[in-house]
Formats: sequence, structure tokens, C-alpha cells
Amino acid sequence: MTDFLVKRDDLRECRIAESEAPELEPGQALLRVDTFGLTANNVTYAVMGEAMSYWDFFPAEDGWGRVPMWGFAEVERSEAEGVEPGTRLYGYLPPSSHLVVRPADADERGFVDASPHRAPLPSAYHRYLASATDPFYRPDTEEVQMLLRPLFFTSFLIDDQLDDEGLASRGPVLISSASSKTAIAAAFLLAQREGVELVSLTSPRSAEFVEGLGIYGRTVLYDAIDSLEAGPATYVDISGDGEVRRAVHEHYGDDLAHSMAVGLTHWEELGAGGEGELPGPSPTLFFAPDRVTKRSEDWGAAGLETRVADAWHPFCEWTSGWLDVIPGRGFEAVQRAYLDVLEGRVEPKRAHVLTL
Ligand SMILES: NC(=O)c1ccc[n+]([C@@H]2O[C@H](COP(=O)([O-])OP(=O)(O)OC[C@H]3O[C@@H](n4cnc5c(N)ncnc54)[C@H](OP(=O)(O)O)[C@@H]3O)[C@@H](O)[C@H]2O)c1
Repeated sequence: MTDFLVKRDDLRECRIAESEAPELEPGQALLRVDTFGLTANNVTYAVMGEAMSYWDFFPAEDGWGRVPMWGFAEVERSEAEGVEPGTRLYGYLPPSSHLVVRPADADERGFVDASPHRAPLPSAYHRYLASATDPFYRPDTEEVQMLLRPLFFTSFLIDDQLDDEGLASRGPVLISSASSKTAIAAAFLLAQREGVELVSLTSPRSAEFVEGLGIYGRTVLYDAIDSLEAGPATYVDISGDGEVRRAVHEHYGDDLAHSMAVGLTHWEELGAGGEGELPGPSPTLFFAPDRVTKRSEDWGAAGLETRVADAWHPFCEWTSGWLDVIPGRGFEAVQRAYLDVLEGRVEPKRAHVLTL
């Protein structure tokens, strides 16, 4: 087995680890990790590894972590009932050659990993979906599924919540790190709603790309937030940049209807923006698995999945007009891609799809 490991207290240090293939216990299965996508979202899993227990999904040796990825795997061996070797699956995977799982609730749609160490972690990450019955799956869009599916799911829920709470039409919706795939997917969905005014907040290097997408009404650089008109607005924060957050809150003050803390692509600027209370509403953490639980209760798990899948296919088609997938294979390629994403060196139209 091969694992790509990251030092938990210094995310810039990484290495490869080799080990013997494990013996399976009754009830376990061995997945061969095929390919996974890598974007800033995965770096956020590492940044929040301790605080939000992301290191606990795929334990590694002391002081090291396996950064969670989304991708495809195949069942290589199985001692679990109802899980057949050769089954292709989509799900949450380590950057490793293999993963041992303990399948439960196995049927033609896949299974959940009931390994005891995963029990305290959010259940939204435990499901492995069999491609043969998955409503999202199309063989010719595997790369886009690995890269954008988890982000799109989040964006669907952001769009849904903003609409549900009447925020989509209460003044402009400002989205930071507007060039990120999560922001783009949210803007793609919001732009289809009547009367929504979308403002992209981004850096100079991403501005031309963001404008070219044609989904935001207006593009504003981070240092020009003051140029926006006063009045009610909603902030969807994907950068996590403390200075940008303060600028938005100070500009709109109590007119800010909602401040949604979604991401932290600017992970080194989390603490920027100084101490002291922010004017306007307190930022509220948006955690997709919580919203999945709510909408699964409202619509049923299958109802939610059908709605997201229906919205997904047109988005997936649209991205083929601009998304540039960079394939990579082997430790060197994974390390280079990981460090490039960590340091923000990847052009926004590009994204990595990797095999260890
Ligand atoms: N809360 C949730 O449940 C949830 C779910 C899914 C995703 N998210 C979060 O959404 C965020 C976006 O993820 P993604 O995968 O969509 O991102 P992505 O497409 O990889 O984002 C790329 C963009 O992020 C900014 N960026 C990335 N790395 C940077 C760095 N080191 N320094 C400065 N800027 C950097 C740049 O945007 P600009 O130039 O425009 O700033 C860049 O164009 C992540 O933080 C992710 O964790 C949250």
C-alpha cells in the first residue's frame, strides 16, 4: 500500500509511505483507489484537520495525516456480504493506493463505511456510491464528477438556503473567492433565479477569468469593496480572508442581511483583519453536512439526491466550456499538485485529477 502523507503541524511537508497490503477481517473490503480530484477544498480539510476532525477519517502514523479527497475506487477484495469485487464506486477517499472499509447497508446502490473510527464523524462522508446505479454518474464525465461534485452539492445547498431564507433577492449577493469552483457553482445556480444580483469579489489575477464566465453581474477587486453601493446585501464568504470580511462588514454595517462563512481558500489570512467586533450580523458557519441533514428530513434522502442530480447535469455540461483538467500520476505529481494548490499557484480555470 502507498500513502501520500502530510505533516499535520506543517502542511508544506509531505512524503510517501509504503506498507504491506492488509489482511481483511470478516466484514471488511479492500478498495483500490483509482483517481481523485484536488482543489482548495482538500487543502481546507487539511487546514481544519484538527479543529473539524478531518484527519480522523483516514488515520495515519503519529503527527502525519492523509488529506481526504473525492474520487473513484474499485472493490479489489471483499469479505463483506453484498459487496462484489470489481464494483466501481464514488466517495470520500484517502490519497492512497488502497482503503480498507467495513461495508454496511450494502445494496445495488453501494454501501456506507461502518468502520468504528468513522462513527463519530459526519455521516454525509461515509457513503460509497456504485457508479452503475448512481444518478450523477456518466462514464464520460468522471473527471468533472471527482472535481466538482462535492463542491456543487455545497453550492446547491447554499443557493437553496439563500432562496429559502429570502436572501437571494434582498440586495446583492457578494461572493468572495469568486473564482473558486464552489463560488462558480453557487453563482451558476443563483444566476438562474429571477432578480438576483451577483457581485464577485476576487483578486486581480482571477478577475479576467471571473468576468469571462458571464454569471456574475459585476466583478469587484478585494481592495475596491468601498466602491459598492450602500444598502442591504448578503455575504457568502468562500475566501475566509479576515481583512475582506472586515471590509464587507464595515461597508454594509447593519444593512448586511447575512454573513455566511463557507470556505477558507485564503487559509493564511484567516486571522487577518484585526481584533474587535465586526459591525453587522455575526458570521454564521455554513457546514454542508448539516444542511444535507435538514433537506434530507424535508425531502427524503432520495428527494434531495434527485434535485441535486437534475441541477448537476446542465452545470457539468457548462463547465466543459472552460474547465481545464490537469491529470497527474505518481508521488511526484501528487506532491507538486498538492503544493501548488496549497500555495494558490493553480489558475482558476484549471484543476488536478490524480492517481497515486
Ligand atoms: N462549508 C462547506 O461545507 C464547504 C463545502 C465545500 C467547499 N467549501 C470551501 O470552499 C472553498 C473553495 O473550494 P474550491 O475547491 O471550490 O476552491 P478552488 O476552486 O480550488 O479555488 C481556487 C481559488 O481560491 C483562491 N485561492 C486558492 N488558494 C489560494 C491561496 N493559497 N491563496 C490565496 N487564494 C487562494 C483563488 O481565488 P480568488 O483569487 O478569487 O480569491 C483561486 O482562484 C474551500 O475553502 C472549501 O473548503 C466549504
